[in-house]
Amino acid sequence: MEVIILSDPQQAALLAARIIEKELRANPALVLGLATGRTMESVYACLAALHRERGLDFSRCRTFNLDEYIGIPAAHPGSYRTYMDQHLFRQVNLAQGSTQLPNGTAADLGGECVRYEAMIQEAGGIDLQLLGLGGDGHIGFNEPLSALLSRTREKALTPATRQQNAPMFGGDPAQVPARAITMGVGTILDSRRCLLLATGAEKAAILARAVEGPITSMVTASALQLHPKCQVVVDAAAAGDLQGTEYYHWIFNNEPEWADFR
Ligand code: GLP
Repeated sequence: MEVIILSDPQQAALLAARIIEKELRANPALVLGLATGRTMESVYACLAALHRERGLDFSRCRTFNLDEYIGIPAAHPGSYRTYMDQHLFRQVNLAQGSTQLPNGTAADLGGECVRYEAMIQEAGGIDLQLLGLGGDGHIGFNEPLSALLSRTREKALTPATRQQNAPMFGGDPAQVPARAITMGVGTILDSRRCLLLATGAEKAAILARAVEGPITSMVTASALQLHPKCQVVVDAAAAGDLQGTEYYHWIFNNEPEWADFR
């Protein structure tokens, strides 16, 4: 794992977007794993700008989102399909049918989870998985005690997560669906590269547990410590509780891999 600390949220989002840009330019048929949440909005704004202003081409790219709520239609304003349409899919030239999210209204939810895993396999696996960090340390909707080998499945959301996501449902946590389909921790770990983005002081304590704490299903993001190529991009506020910042800064300022991004 590598941790890159930038001064502010905008710089952190820009770096995440530029990492995606580099991968997509090297492999136009990239299989990209996508995440939702407020943190990602600036990443998608940067990608949309790169498409408009520097011709970043998504026409051969395929995408798989981490998760979707159960029981609300895709057209619901709070659905992750709506979020993705608004922030990314309508802003770039992704081909029709190339963007996948789990179907949270499938009659057979268990079958839908199996189908989603199979689609990822058929696409050749995920090349780069973008990840946010939930307040309880979740990645996707892998709430505390999610098995670290879990696959795509139904998951009940914690009250804290429903509270955290209430702004997208008129501010009322009771309106946030109680369940979601999410890629499992094991599904995420199968991606060839993981990129976690976290910004803001409210993420500092949980980020430190995820990155420098013990690997535990209580903080499913900590499983990323097992991943052979995982980068964590944060702003200074989110890095506030980390112990190893001096080393992390040294890596970014000296390792050749980061030369294009400094
Ligand atoms: C939701 C998503 C997570 C995401 C989290 C972070 O819970 N299911 O994948 O990481 O939001 O949200 P935010 O960026 O708004 O803090």
